[in-house]
Amino acid sequence: MNQTDSVQEQVKSYYGKWLKRSEDLQTNVTCSLTRRPSSKTVCEAMTLIHPEVSQRYFGCGLVVPESLEGCHVLDLGSGSGRDCFILSKLVGPRGRVTGVDMTDEQIQLARRYVTYHQEKFGYKEANTEFVQGYIEKLGEAGIPYNSFDLLVSNCVICLCPDKKAVLEEAYRILKEGGELYFSDMYASEPLDEELKKDVVLWGEGLAGALYWKDLINLVKAVGFSTPYLVTASHIKIQKAEILKQTGDVQYASGTYRFFKLPAVKSERKSLVTYKGTVTDHQQELHFDSAHVFKKDKAVEVDGELAMVLKTSRFASHFDIQIIEEEKESLKDGYQQYCHLNPFLLADKLGSSIQKCSKAQKGSLCENQEEEEKKNTMVEG
Ligand SMILES: C[S@@+](CC[C@H](N)C(=O)[O-])C[C@H]1O[C@@H](n2cnc3c(N)ncnc32)[C@H](O)[C@@H]1O
Repeated sequence: MNQTDSVQEQVKSYYGKWLKRSEDLQTNVTCSLTRRPSSKTVCEAMTLIHPEVSQRYFGCGLVVPESLEGCHVLDLGSGSGRDCFILSKLVGPRGRVTGVDMTDEQIQLARRYVTYHQEKFGYKEANTEFVQGYIEKLGEAGIPYNSFDLLVSNCVICLCPDKKAVLEEAYRILKEGGELYFSDMYASEPLDEELKKDVVLWGEGLAGALYWKDLINLVKAVGFSTPYLVTASHIKIQKAEILKQTGDVQYASGTYRFFKLPAVKSERKSLVTYKGTVTDHQQELHFDSAHVFKKDKAVEVDGELAMVLKTSRFASHFDIQIIEEEKESLKDGYQQYCHLNPFLLADKLGSSIQKCSKAQKGSLCENQEEEEKKNTMVEG
């Protein structure tokens, strides 16, 4: 058995046999997701999810972006299916959601609740299916290439030894203009090889978390657009013995979004005006931590973001006027990407949570107004 296979077998046991509920995790990841306002529709969908499915939620963020009606969505490492069922409600009966997971117990559990959610949402036919397979080998699992509008993933890529294989496969599966929107755990520095030998640390995502700057480089190398950082929170490790092992390394959860752009790019700086047409986002659209587009307000964006808006499912929601040829960026290295650092954003949002109480978990929807206020620190 090679190293990748043995890590995957350990992770399968961790999620299939050992962990029974979100609270069994050794970090606060499942409750470090309260920094982004979610729409009324998302909150309503969350309340409709079967309790057994929610109890076995092990994600580290909310992977529900905007403008989902009719979309074909694939969830990489779908677990008990919680995010898939929320997305099933949001894509509506004309959309489709597929969850892929390698762990038999997770797939069986998710499949048991397909009809329950179909009936709950009042759909004639189920729009959700679960496929057992490895996200590094989606083709082998029978997932067709160039076929999805959106890929999501929630705290899974940190469990995969070969992240490049995952991102390359994700790129192939997406249609042109498609998006990968995912939450994951990141490390503040490259990890020591010693850390990568521990079974529990792998299961918790701490041994496989990417140094955040490596994500940026990997994403660009695979061919995606520059990543946009949507939100971030600090992760607290609860157990003293794990803290001892991880030493000075800090962890944060971060939600990034990036896009598969056309091969022949014509990136021009543009003036974009949001039309206020995305469901639940009539007044403004929070695209990422640096761009909030207000209805009817023209905003200048760089050539790449203009291209993202023009070629993705957001195209019909914007008026886009080219201003000029994109000039070469003078920024480089860290300076170019420091706005993508999840640790800085988590500091700014002041989001570290010491203990995961039931009330904190619920606050994602309950403290909506407060969340909205905190998130207005950025201007589009
Ligand atoms: C932390 S859990 C998250 C599950 C789900 N996304 C959620 O939010 O509850 C990680 C899941 O990813 C799955 N997984 C890990 N590595 C995988 C891989 N290489 N291919 C497919 N599934 C994988 C595990 O089986 C597990 O169900």
